[in-house]
Amino acid sequence: MTIRLAACLMLPVLALPAVASAQEAPAPMLSPASTFAETDGAALFANVCQACHMPAAQGAIGAGHYPALAKNPNLETGAYPVYVVVHGLKGMPPVGRMMNDDQVAAVVNYLRTSFGNSYTDPVTAKDVADARN
Ligand code: HEC
Repeated sequence: MTIRLAACLMLPVLALPAVASAQEAPAPMLSPASTFAETDGAALFANVCQACHMPAAQGAIGAGHYPALAKNPNLETGAYPVYVVVHGLKGMPPVGRMMNDDQVAAVVNYLRTSFGNSYTDPVTAKDVADARN
């Protein structure tokens, strides 16, 4: 019992060097679990949004309802998609919490000018920062 307890207590210590070396590793090619590495709107869309909203943003109906983001008039006001990405919306998780302000702005601007959407007034990182509060 005592020996087993001691072994347990040692485990975190043994794990430490691995954590340290992982942090020194070069920038990962893929997103780590807690944040997204991509900075480009198209890459963020492909990595984060299309899993639910589908590659052409056409949405899907199956186990859940994933609204189409293509030709979506709800995107006209940039603040709306910023709000949804940052805070989530019912079935949609707040994926913007795993992105910085520039990343949220990039993916929203990409979405609002792609897939048949042509809202050319860009949202800014400041808009995102304001929406987080
Ligand atoms: C885990 C699945 C999932 C992911 C990932 C996801 N969404 Fe969603 N999204 C949803 C669902 C479900 C809804 C509908 C929520 C509701 O109204 O019930 C939604 C709704 C939205 C809406 C509102 C559409 C409207 O017409 O009101 C926007 C905008 C949106 N998502 C953008 C995004 C963007 C941009 C990303 C990537 C950064 C993203 N979503 C990632 C599931 C997801």
